[in-house]
Amino acid sequence: MGLDLHGRRVLLTGASGGIGLAVARALHSRGATVLASARREDVLRRLCAELGDRAEALPADLSDGADVAALVGRAGTVDVLVANAGLPASGPLLGFEHEQIDRALDVNLRAPVHLARALAPGMVERGSGHLVFVSSLSGKTASGGSSLYSATKFGMRGLAIGLREDLADTGVGVTTVFPGFIRDAGMFHDSAAKLPPFVGTRTPEQVAEALAQGIERGRLEVDVAPLPVRIGAALGGLAPAVSSAVQRRLGGADVADQMARGQADKR
Ligand SMILES: NC(=O)c1ccc[n+]([C@@H]2O[C@H](COP(=O)([O-])OP(=O)(O)OC[C@H]3O[C@@H](n4cnc5c(N)ncnc54)[C@H](OP(=O)(O)O)[C@@H]3O)[C@@H](O)[C@H]2O)c1
Repeated sequence: MGLDLHGRRVLLTGASGGIGLAVARALHSRGATVLASARREDVLRRLCAELGDRAEALPADLSDGADVAALVGRAGTVDVLVANAGLPASGPLLGFEHEQIDRALDVNLRAPVHLARALAPGMVERGSGHLVFVSSLSGKTASGGSSLYSATKFGMRGLAIGLREDLADTGVGVTTVFPGFIRDAGMFHDSAAKLPPFVGTRTPEQVAEALAQGIERGRLEVDVAPLPVRIGAALGGLAPAVSSAVQRRLGGADVADQMARGQADKR
């Protein structure tokens, strides 16, 4: 079931990042009020100044359960949750410290679950609302060097599919967005990793537009990647062993290695 964004209050996490900034602009331009959350308050304040009215900065650290609970209280009425904050959690699992694993699980999965649990009852009571989860094509297919990231992004997909059924006939919709490789800004861009020439990319603005349309049209899932990348992800979900062999032949390990090195500061 779709939702008109005009006049809605949207709580957007990860609003200071490459995709979050684009989502904030896209939803605001459709008439929504944007409650922008992330840790970096200076970036949030600049975003709110740029948007003008209908924008509020709500700094929070989503790796801290108390901060997640406080964020819900500070946000007030929320018509739409966009759970977009995420850590790249890239590199082989054996290279992670215990607290780095917990932080990735907390930010990428635990916080979205708690935010949905806390905000959905108000939406159900009002008979309208929408929950959006920003996953990744790594939430449909997995590859070496991103097992922890995939664990969180597959988890999000399971959460969203089940939750949509739980909320059927309540007026509350659920959409999951699955970006592929995003250029120009965001965690992949920031890593400076180079893709083989045959792997296409999308922009943060394309993710934001697809996300907004996903809400308006009540879509369960929205992929944001060129067709060959989407087909690769779908095949990876159906035949993971074959997909792993293909990725190995096409140099997937090298890209994963570049990403892990470029994202080491985001653990
Ligand atoms: N870029 C891509 O190619 C790509 C592809 C597929 C999926 N995605 C997904 O898209 C989403 C946005 O990614 P992006 O590319 O925009 O990444 P990004 O530029 O690195 O932004 C990540 C966002 O998450 C926030 N964040 C990180 N740790 C946090 C914490 N402890 N508490 C609160 N907020 C925290 C960051 O804000 P602060 O640092 O200010 O806290 C930032 O706003 C993520 O869920 C990501 O997995 C991205």
